[in-house]
Amino acid sequence: MNAIKIENVHKTFHQKQVLNDICIDIEKGEIFGLLGPSGAGKTTLIQILIGQYIPDSGHTFILGKDSLKLAKEDYTQIGLVLDKDGLYDRLSCYDNLQLYASIYQLDSQKIESVLKQVQLYDDRKKAVNQLSKGMKQRLVLARAIMHEPQILFLDEPTSGLDPATTLKIHTLLLELRDRGTAIFLTTHNMEEAAKLCHRVALLNEGKIIECDTPTAICEKHNDLNKVTITTKDHQKYIFNNNKKDAERIYQLFQSENIQSIHSSEPTLGNVFIALTGKELD
Ligand SMILES: Nc1ncnc2c1ncn2[C@@H]1O[C@H](COP(=O)(O)OP(=O)(O)O)[C@@H](O)[C@H]1O
Ligand SMILES: [Mg+2]
Repeated sequence: MNAIKIENVHKTFHQKQVLNDICIDIEKGEIFGLLGPSGAGKTTLIQILIGQYIPDSGHTFILGKDSLKLAKEDYTQIGLVLDKDGLYDRLSCYDNLQLYASIYQLDSQKIESVLKQVQLYDDRKKAVNQLSKGMKQRLVLARAIMHEPQILFLDEPTSGLDPATTLKIHTLLLELRDRGTAIFLTTHNMEEAAKLCHRVALLNEGKIIECDTPTAICEKHNDLNKVTITTKDHQKYIFNNNKKDAERIYQLFQSENIQSIHSSEPTLGNVFIALTGKELD
């Protein structure tokens, strides 16, 4: 059984098609990245997956169950990090988690262990309104994983965070993946996606234009490769990775005038720009 199954999902808002025939299967223990610029439809798809929005057509399934039929016990298998943090500002970190612990009937030891896991144990008595943005996001993550869900939805989990916090969150996500959690994350950060995700889907104007491992997507668009050659007389030449330019590269080799050669592999970011003509943020 797939952790998440998305079958031919369409969604429109006010006659504007936001999602157009989306199909994705995600396994347990997989980190799947949905990539796309702002307004591409990423959050809408998460809302459909968790049963908050109804698709115009198509179906989505969480652990085999239709998202529109999810019951209270199914939500115990799901952890959510959405854009609104939903934290109580005047309550401490510990007390915020305690509210959730009572819903899931978790004991206080679990609160302490998850606070340690996200490195907030020493700050557990601080009120939320005294936390930095990165600390708040780690608290939201703690709340999302406290009940050990099988599936974690993360909507732009590291957006606007400093590199140190981002790294802490990445490390935690990789640990969760190793324990078999399926992670569905949205991001417009291509480096994040390339580092964390087994597979990514590139979403543009509601359609998936590529879906594969980051390496496979980059290899498929290998024609975006550039070869830069600097000669001993400080001339710089930029060539394409194709037959036409190979002849000219060969001529430079023959002239024994080459100082250095650099090749730039296409990144997910380059591929996205080449396919859509758009930057991601
Ligand atoms: N509840 C809603 N009502 C009307 N339009 C919406 C609603 N939610 C999202 N949209 C529109 O759908 C499009 C995709 O939004 P969203 O899924 O939030 O994109 P992303 O998360 O990729 O930035 C946007 O044009 C947005 O304005
Ligand atoms: Mg969004």
